[in-house]
Amino acid sequence: MPKLLVDNKEIEAKEGTTLLQACLDNGIYIPNLCYLESMDDHQASCRMCFVEIEGEEKPITSCTVTVKDNMVAKTDTLSVRRLQKAALRLLLSVHHVDCKPCQANKKCELQRLAKFLKVGLKPKHLEIHLKEPAIHQDHPCLDYYPNRCILCGKCIHVCREQHGQSVLTFAKRGFDTVISSYRKNDVSSLACEKCVVCVNICPVGALILRESQE
Ligand code: SF4
Ligand code: SF4
Ligand code: FES
Repeated sequence: MPKLLVDNKEIEAKEGTTLLQACLDNGIYIPNLCYLESMDDHQASCRMCFVEIEGEEKPITSCTVTVKDNMVAKTDTLSVRRLQKAALRLLLSVHHVDCKPCQANKKCELQRLAKFLKVGLKPKHLEIHLKEPAIHQDHPCLDYYPNRCILCGKCIHVCREQHGQSVLTFAKRGFDTVISSYRKNDVSSLACEKCVVCVNICPVGALILRESQE
């Protein structure tokens, strides 16, 4: 098993695992939003899990690095924190922060992360850009809130894992990117209201079972 030194602590990791997973398995928290161990190709879209690795010029996303024996990494440096805070500001600039009525309130990964990085969820002087409409109800039993979605893709992945295909997909591009459901016949055959793996994996409150179904 590879042995690593992270924040001056010696840890052991499974062969072939990511540095992020090795740290999490050893009780070293690295902010992360788009990572799932079962995903094969980590897209590193949230830009949160930066670490510094000895021998690398710049901080690097730990979810895209495979552990190596004798690797030396630091998770808590000034430049790491600067990058994480910048990524968080970017997410918050397209987020409708209204936690009280949100289903994710108090179990939200974004709240956890903001607290960890000591960044308020409503930073001063941050220009906010929100999408319209604020709720999509085109799925038979799921409501989707684009201004809470961090586009991590976990919902698409777990739906595919569970059913061999996903009824959820990314739609549109750039700022307009959203999660969308398609193939309505597949939606009913997958019995979404009894499944909800997508709702359960969502790290924020962007996908929820419509109230009348609960
Ligand atoms: S997703 Fe999280 S940060 Fe956003 S409104 Fe809901 S609880 Fe608040
Ligand atoms: S709906 Fe939730 S799980 Fe799906 S991409 Fe958005 S934040 Fe991620
Ligand atoms: S968890 Fe690594 S970039 Fe999102």
